[in-house]
Amino acid sequence: MTDPGPDPLRVWHRLADTAVLLDGFHALKHAVRFGAEVPVAVTADRSAALALAEELAPDVLAALDGLLAEVPEATYRGLVARPHPTAVAALAVRPSREAGLRKLAHTPRTAPVVVLDNPRNLGNAGAVIRLAAGFGATGVVTTGTLDPWHPAVVRGGAGLHFATAVERLTVAELPPGPVFALDPEGADIRGVRLPDDALLAFGSERSGLSAELRARADHLVALPMRPQVSSYNLATSVAMTLYHWSATGGAPV
Ligand SMILES: C[S@@+](CC[C@H](N)C(=O)[O-])C[C@H]1O[C@@H](n2cnc3c(N)ncnc32)[C@H](O)[C@@H]1O
Repeated sequence: MTDPGPDPLRVWHRLADTAVLLDGFHALKHAVRFGAEVPVAVTADRSAALALAEELAPDVLAALDGLLAEVPEATYRGLVARPHPTAVAALAVRPSREAGLRKLAHTPRTAPVVVLDNPRNLGNAGAVIRLAAGFGATGVVTTGTLDPWHPAVVRGGAGLHFATAVERLTVAELPPGPVFALDPEGADIRGVRLPDDALLAFGSERSGLSAELRARADHLVALPMRPQVSSYNLATSVAMTLYHWSATGGAPV
C-alpha cells in the first residue's frame, strides 16, 4: 500500500499563520515554476485543476499532480477568505529575508531594482511585483509600512513573488546603485538610458517621492505626459519605466 502522506488539512492549519497563501491555480503554477517550496496544495476539483495544468502549464503538470489533494468544496471554502474560480489554494514557504537581501545586494547587477517609496495600495504593489517578474527585474523593495508579502499583494502578484526578490527596507538600507527617481518634474525619460544596476524609485500614490528618497536620488526622470494631467497611476508608471529600460538596451528574459 502506498503511503498517503500527511493529512493536508493538518499541514494547512499548522502553517497557515506563517506561510504565503497562493490563491488560485495561476498563483500556484507560478510559485512552483519559480522554485517555491509548497508544503500543501488543495483543490475542490482535482481533475479540473489537472486539466488546466495540462492545457496551460504542462511544464508543472507532474509537480502539481504530486502536490494537489482534493478536499470537499465546503472544506476548500473554509480555508480561503474568497473562493477562487479555479478552486485551488496552496501554502508556500516565504523565502528568508537573508536570501532576499543577498539577491538585492548582489553585484554586478544585471537588471534594475524597483523601489516603491511608501506605497499605500496593495493592488498596486502586487501589479508591480508581477511587472518586475515579467521584465526580469532583480527585485522590488518597498519602504514604509505596507507589507509587500500581504495576502492581497500576493494575490495581485499572481504568485510571482517567487520570481524576483521582494523585501521591505528603509531608505537608508537600500542596496547600492544609482537611484533614478521617477517624478513628473524630472528630465524626459526618452533622453535617458537606464543602466542595469539602477534603482528605479517611485513615489507614494498620495504624496509622491519622500524627502528622504529625493535626497538619495542621483537623477529625477519624467514620463511624457500632457501638461493638464497631474500624474499616472503608480503601477503604470513602473510598467512604462521598465519597458523603457528593456527597449533601450536592458535585457529582459
Ligand atoms: C500617483 S503618482 C503620485 C501622485 C502624487 N499625488 C504626487 O504628488 O506626486 C505615483 C508615482 O508615480 C510616478 N509617476 C506618476 N506619473 C509620473 C510621470 N509623469 N513622470 C514620472 N513619474 C511619474 C512617480 O514616481 C509618482 O510619485
